[in-house]
Amino acid sequence: MEYQAKQLFAKHGVPVTEGIVATTPEEAKAAAEKLGVVVVKAQVKAGGRGKAGGVKLAKTPDEAFEHATNIIGMEIKGLTVNRVLIAPAASIEEEYYFSFLLDRANRQYLTIASVEGGVEIEEVAKTNPEAVRQIAIDPGTGVDEAKAKAIVAEAKFPEALTDQAVQTILALWKVFVEEDATLVEVNPLARLTGDVLEALDGKVSLDENAEFRHADHAEFEDKAAADPLEAKAKEKGLNYVKLDGAVGIIGNGAGLVMSTLDVVAYAGEAHGGVKPANFLDIGGGASAQVMADGLDVILNDPQVKSVFVNVFGGITSCDAVANGIVGALDILGDEATKPLVVRLDGNNVEEGRRILAEKNHPLVTVVATMDGAADKAAELANA
Ligand SMILES: Nc1ncnc2c1ncn2[C@@H]1O[C@H](COP(=O)(O)OP(=O)(O)OP(=O)(O)O)[C@@H](O)[C@H]1O
Ligand SMILES: [Mg+2]
Repeated sequence: MEYQAKQLFAKHGVPVTEGIVATTPEEAKAAAEKLGVVVVKAQVKAGGRGKAGGVKLAKTPDEAFEHATNIIGMEIKGLTVNRVLIAPAASIEEEYYFSFLLDRANRQYLTIASVEGGVEIEEVAKTNPEAVRQIAIDPGTGVDEAKAKAIVAEAKFPEALTDQAVQTILALWKVFVEEDATLVEVNPLARLTGDVLEALDGKVSLDENAEFRHADHAEFEDKAAADPLEAKAKEKGLNYVKLDGAVGIIGNGAGLVMSTLDVVAYAGEAHGGVKPANFLDIGGGASAQVMADGLDVILNDPQVKSVFVNVFGGITSCDAVANGIVGALDILGDEATKPLVVRLDGNNVEEGRRILAEKNHPLVTVVATMDGAADKAAELANA
């Protein structure tokens, strides 16, 4: 959210005014009493807040109260606004756009900068692409002062702002690198009266793979907006994404799980159009506990009607996986109520299938092929 991005900006020396976060109109009013003329800004993880009516100027504390009353609780792009940022109103002369991002296709970083910034950068890119400069950044050398000067020249920031722009770009680069971000965006980076450059908005995407070295990033998570099942899966260290269908999916390895989603969607066409209910990769070492955690998450999704466990025994052998499934069903007991279709193949598959056959659990159907199992799971979901 903007106020969080601004915290990170302030920490690394990007010029910002942090403002005051309010969760009630009363708090908004009190903040405005301290700050004077303010802007009341919806805090949600989405762009286009201004256009949606979530950014309003308030000349008096009473106006701030009124705007906060309207903005708190409103929905922007499907997200409920739970808090507003009360920011001192800035006197804007010009608005620029600036961002650093990961350019996956070219395996490097990228700067996008435009002196024709403001709200509609996508529009500028369409109607006047020349005004939106894209400047590659070599990941080996990053952004030093010379590079920052080159960016400022290329983007054609006004003379009077050159030094501030260079310093701001260096500070934003620090945010990008030191916080392990995949995106740092400022729109608008504004020229205020008196030729002062300030970031009036901010958006930062953090790389989850780097979470382990940023304990302080945990506080940025929007727990209220998180899907409760996804939150539970995350707590258990599972790689889970909730989808909209009725066939729960458990597999080992992201590639296999992705293929499983495709095969289930395809098989589902013959069974009333049922679709996969989730992505869940339990990775290597499918222990009973991991399997139980995965099943627990999936079975608690009320949309799930059947579960397809699709495991290829590689490093983990199929007997270990079969024992994991049996153990998981024991752990879950009466909580396991939905049919499970299991397809095992690979390392020690005969023993794996023998273990499942011996257990002969009423909810479990073993099917030899992936296509066959997908079809069975779709059929059961549609039953
Ligand atoms: N502190 C401020 N003082 C004066 N005007 C402001 C202030 N903050 C924002 N604005 C104005 O409101 C507009 C929209 O605000 P902002 O860019 O923060 O939200 P947004 O619409 O969600 O943007 P984006 O789509 O880039 O996320 C800005 O372009 C700017 O003109
Ligand atoms: Mg903006």
